[in-house]
Amino acid sequence: MTIQNDLFLRAARGEQTERPPVWLMRQAGRILPQYRAIRSKLSGFVELVTTPDLAAEVTIQPVDELGVDAAIIFSDILVIPEAMGLPYELIEKKGPLFPTTIKSGADVSKLISGEDAAAHLPYVYDAVSLTKKALDGRVPLIGFAGAPWTLLSYMVEGSGSKTFSKAKKFLYTEEAIAHQLLQKITDTTIAYLKNKIKAGADLVQVFDSWAGILSPTQYQVFALPYIRQICEAIDEVPVTVFAKGAWFAMDEIGKLPCQVVGIDWNTNLADVRKKIPGDKVLQGNLDPCQLYASSEKVRQATLDMIGNFNGKHIANLGHGVYPDTPLDNVKVFVNTIKDFRYSTA
Ligand code: CP3
Repeated sequence: MTIQNDLFLRAARGEQTERPPVWLMRQAGRILPQYRAIRSKLSGFVELVTTPDLAAEVTIQPVDELGVDAAIIFSDILVIPEAMGLPYELIEKKGPLFPTTIKSGADVSKLISGEDAAAHLPYVYDAVSLTKKALDGRVPLIGFAGAPWTLLSYMVEGSGSKTFSKAKKFLYTEEAIAHQLLQKITDTTIAYLKNKIKAGADLVQVFDSWAGILSPTQYQVFALPYIRQICEAIDEVPVTVFAKGAWFAMDEIGKLPCQVVGIDWNTNLADVRKKIPGDKVLQGNLDPCQLYASSEKVRQATLDMIGNFNGKHIANLGHGVYPDTPLDNVKVFVNTIKDFRYSTA
């Protein structure tokens, strides 16, 4: 199917575009009243994730309401641990919880992986193909997965955490078991992303949300080699790597075989440009909290961001949009970018 608005894909391939494309991380599900209306009728988040026609509906809501240049499939990074044999729950106002966690080599041995595990997620692939059909080529669809380290951190810690010290302790004390687990997650993620691409995903993004809590050495040992395997395995569509807080690893991230690198708002753009080769495109990076300011300040900060990147840029926030962000300011952010044109002089 031809995509009518292919600006996002042209930019991701490194082509020169008339303006940066724009979408927001976590645009599906956090901010729209239409989402909350659907969500309130259900038993919980997991029901929404596992019901493909509803997942497709909330995926398309931000395209209709905000006019963004890409959709991102409504799902969660935690479906992978579940498919491997470690189910999660989502506790209202608290976040994810794993009733059983990984503590030992025996726990890792029990997990299934690769294509066998990925085969447990037909509802995600159905949601992708239903979304593609319903989008009817309006904008491209992004598929995603959590990076192996970020998934390990939830599987060992059992929930969100300020420090993830249990997960980090596991790396320091159970190094060999950690590598076995990371490899199983990686094998599953590759099979999963390939299935999503077969179902219609036009680009895939890997979220390493907890990159920033590792030391540079730990990031080299426990995170990058597995992200590299994913990038090497996915050659069907462009890949975006978003490693939050990993400004210390930009040299190595620049060497990954991915097309797009996401950066957060803490990252110094001039520095990153020196470290990331010119054939890669950067995505980001307005502070999500900037959207709490007055609409005029949001507009100016958005224009400043576009000017600082000045091409080879996919406009986004530096992390997911917060649930209580004023919707009008989200629209100011999106529309400021959509009204902008690069000067051709
Ligand atoms: O980008 C999108 O809009 C697509 C949907 C999406 C969700 N989760 C839906 C969701 C995506 C891309 C994710 C990824 C995700 N999930 C990450 C990586 C991105 C990031 O923000 O760093 C992480 C760390 C998770 C784990 C997770 N899932 C947490 C910590 C929470 C609770 C807090 C919250 O609201 O995000 C979830 C639940 C979740 N995932 C919700 C949504 C819409 C809220 C559930 C609800 O409606 O109650």
